[in-house]
Amino acid sequence: MSRIGFIGTGHIAAPMVRFLAVRGHDICVTRRSEAVSAALAANHGARVGAPRDVLDNSDIIILCLRPQKAHDVLEPLEFQSHHQIVSVMAGVSAHDLAALCAPARSYVRTIPMGFLETGGCPLAAYGDTDMLAALFEPENPVVPVASEAALNAHFALCAMVPGLLDIMATGAGWLGQKTNDVTGAEFFTAQLVSGFLAAMRKDPGALTRERDALAVEGSLSRQMTQTLETHGAHSALRSALDAIGKRLEKS
Ligand SMILES: NC(=O)c1ccc[n+]([C@@H]2O[C@H](COP(=O)([O-])OP(=O)(O)OC[C@H]3O[C@@H](n4cnc5c(N)ncnc54)[C@H](OP(=O)(O)O)[C@@H]3O)[C@@H](O)[C@H]2O)c1
Repeated sequence: MSRIGFIGTGHIAAPMVRFLAVRGHDICVTRRSEAVSAALAANHGARVGAPRDVLDNSDIIILCLRPQKAHDVLEPLEFQSHHQIVSVMAGVSAHDLAALCAPARSYVRTIPMGFLETGGCPLAAYGDTDMLAALFEPENPVVPVASEAALNAHFALCAMVPGLLDIMATGAGWLGQKTNDVTGAEFFTAQLVSGFLAAMRKDPGALTRERDALAVEGSLSRQMTQTLETHGAHSALRSALDAIGKRLEKS
């Protein structure tokens, strides 16, 4: 079992702590946000301390600060060469991490989502991906990427999730108007899509193969895919991904 410390104990740290604590790791977290750290201490046995205590009691340090706080919080700390660094902070480069966390020598940047706690979250990762895999696989598959530009592109794609939820909410709203049953419409929509995706194989080509199996010539499904294409849904998605990707490149 590993000694794992978290610097920044907010929205994304909490599910990561719970996942790791259940697997028997020794966890130490920073006090802020106090309600979150207190709950992790009470329910998952995490120790709570100042950032310096976290460094003293951990070999693996998981950085979960907002990027704009990273410099002010990390710069005064005394990292050690045995520390292995996992950063989930969008926009803080490996180069900046190496400067902020010297003399630590092992680094990995990744993009978790909260559902990593229950498994099935793909972890795009740049750097020491074996270290990350030892912590989060097999439940959450690590997807190594070759460059930070590729990692940023994966960050951008993560924003497609709320985009798809928004589309689904529109569909559920349409159904609710037709049935006068808003709750039932939302359940049906969420269960339909999540059930389909859970059952779907994820091998190469699966997305288009499954689409084409449904959207055969003359079908209702084909009418849907063609209408979305004609009305620019795909070009809107590509524009959003390009714009988000550019924003990440600049940060
Ligand atoms: N949320 C996600 O789903 C998600 C997914 C992937 C990556 N990320 C990345 O994860 C990072 C954190 O995001 P988040 O959503 O978890 O943000 P968050 O909830 O605001 O968490 C940041 C934490 O840092 C703490 N903090 C601020 N100043 C501190 C200091 N001086 N010393 C110790 N702790 C301090 C905050 O405490 P206070 O609340 O007391 O200020 C808070 O607990 C970001 O870089 C983001 O890009 C987030």
